[in-house]
Amino acid sequence: MLKKLIFLLTIFLYTQAFADDGYRLWLKFDLLKNNLRKAEYQRYAGFISSEFSESPVMATAQKELKRGVEGMLGVQIPAGKKMTGGIVFKKDASVAREGYVIQTRNSNIYISASDDKGILYGVFELLRQMQQENPVATLNISASPKIQLRMLNHWDNPLGTIERGYAGSSLWKWYELPENIDPRYIDYARANASIGINAVVLNNVNASARFLTKEYLTKVKALADVFRPYGIKVFLSINFASPKILGKLKNSDPLDPQVRDWWKDKAREIYEYIPDFGGFLVKANSEGEPGPQEFGRTHADGANMLAEALKPFKGLVIWRAFVYSPNPKGDRFKEAYNEFKPLDGQFAENVMVQVKNGPIDFQSREPFHPLFGAMPKTPLSMEFQITQEYLGFSTNLVYLATLFKECLEADTYTNGKGSTVAQVIEGKYLTSSGTGGKLTAIAGVANTGSDRNWTGHLMSQANWYAFGRLAWNHQLSTEQIADEWIKMTLTKDAGAVKIIKDMLLKSREVYVDFTTPLGLHHVMGQNIHFGAEPWLERSARPDWTAIYYHRADSVGLGFDRTEQGSNALGLYHPEVQKLWNNPQTCDLKYILWFHHIPWTQKLSTGKTLWDEFASRYYRGVQEVEAIQQQWEKVKPFVDAEIFADVKGRLAAQHREALNWRDACVLYFQTFSKMPIPQPYPKPERTLDEMKKITEIYQLR
Ligand code: GCU
Repeated sequence: MLKKLIFLLTIFLYTQAFADDGYRLWLKFDLLKNNLRKAEYQRYAGFISSEFSESPVMATAQKELKRGVEGMLGVQIPAGKKMTGGIVFKKDASVAREGYVIQTRNSNIYISASDDKGILYGVFELLRQMQQENPVATLNISASPKIQLRMLNHWDNPLGTIERGYAGSSLWKWYELPENIDPRYIDYARANASIGINAVVLNNVNASARFLTKEYLTKVKALADVFRPYGIKVFLSINFASPKILGKLKNSDPLDPQVRDWWKDKAREIYEYIPDFGGFLVKANSEGEPGPQEFGRTHADGANMLAEALKPFKGLVIWRAFVYSPNPKGDRFKEAYNEFKPLDGQFAENVMVQVKNGPIDFQSREPFHPLFGAMPKTPLSMEFQITQEYLGFSTNLVYLATLFKECLEADTYTNGKGSTVAQVIEGKYLTSSGTGGKLTAIAGVANTGSDRNWTGHLMSQANWYAFGRLAWNHQLSTEQIADEWIKMTLTKDAGAVKIIKDMLLKSREVYVDFTTPLGLHHVMGQNIHFGAEPWLERSARPDWTAIYYHRADSVGLGFDRTEQGSNALGLYHPEVQKLWNNPQTCDLKYILWFHHIPWTQKLSTGKTLWDEFASRYYRGVQEVEAIQQQWEKVKPFVDAEIFADVKGRLAAQHREALNWRDACVLYFQTFSKMPIPQPYPKPERTLDEMKKITEIYQLR
């Protein structure tokens, strides 16, 4: 008895003394406070039994279920089989691949699946229900993913830095591998499995050839071995010039037999280490990376050569469409389309083309990429960015589920009304006439790093979570995902959940307001992609400046992409063109993406372009202030350490919002020559002062 008391006291003191540092993400499994629910769940905590034969994934499923339920209920689930009062893993061949059915019947909870991974995902679903304190007495849930590969793309470099990573350094400790396995790798895998992510690319698309050396393959193997029991496959980004760099061949021409043999040998070697290796992600002939065009070959030639090498092992090539050439007269918007559309039908059956959500580069709002729906013979993978390269790094609260869904639900009209981007990546419109098989994939550029809370801004954990949940089922609402995440991560207090949900749901629009309203884009700082630099006129490439995109002049603002301009709009289906090509009716969200609008033109809001544009910057700053106040209100309901950290970051966001507002309003005012609209005050700083702030970022 005394021992038990001491034990309970220690637990109490421990949980009181240590604030929450966010490490456990949404997988906290703390003792539930709702005793009614606890009693309800206890009725099913009598045993765990399984009809499946043992396997690493099944062992994970059992372990995770036990860990989660025991944590939440504070009881031990005894070993051994009983007839009723437990949780049963049931084999059911009729359940779709990786899917599950959860049902409460005969005083048991049954998780049915046709494969091990389905059970693992079912386990996490059941835990999610319990973490949210939902009733389980009449559960009847069935789910299966429509997209096969749900991937994280890490942009991690061999020396530990992360391209566009804002949460510390790389999770992968290459120098310690393969001997030392950081337990954090396991926690990373658990988090991914809990939201259905089943594939990861370990390294940056600007790839070092180092990863294909024997030395590094043993390290990659070590990580693959850790991730496998969580249902996660490993992929690598490759450097296209590897045959020359590593194999000392005279070139890396994809039609050269020696080069082809080099890749075949390399593939064989990789699969000796990692028998279930996923394949290669390739950035080629883009931003200075090597590629087949150096040898007069096409993207298809390059991809198909790699595909041939991987085919005997069922490996995949994921070839990125993020390409654009420095053409001062052109429109970067059209370049990937122009290069890839003609190649439709020429890719081997184990090749996918990975397309960023928008035509430029992960801006805070972009129209969907015109390649979606335009390559019916090629399986396309979606590439989203979870890391907030253009969305305020880790000082800004921006919930990205809204951005992801906006793109996934956009209508391409390829096969009539309702042919959404999501359906395109689900492979719904892939024609059988092409060589491409029914491969489906969605990727998110990871926002994880070595920071204790994984993502820098605690609220950015919600973006990792939301990406996984939407990759699994894009029909989930942004509200539901926010609701789940908040309850599992921050608080279950209904009032606080409501406030935090409101903060999350509006956050992306707020960010757009104070940075790039009305479809303005690419006006951020040159090197750091953060803060405003709309005056940027010169860069190594014209399409890396700001003026290339905003086209401000004494008449107006925005890039004319109609027939009179670059005609990028012509790349879309006529029904989509109809939505956007008339400046009078174009959705204001996109208006400056497609039109050069006179400053004095009245918009649908009744205000002139200038007044609407400037007002939105002011409104954005006010909205950040409102979010700060909302956060104050939830103070009693969230952990103190987390509260303080988020509060500090919101204050930083406010400072940055003021900088964006003053920089943009003052700079564009030099063109519009119109006064700051009522009732807003003039910025207290001058344009020169604002320019000095960006100059600081150029200093080393
Ligand atoms: C952006 C980003 C680069 C990245 C590139 C890519 O341009 O700024 O850092 O390498 O996208 O997606 O390949």
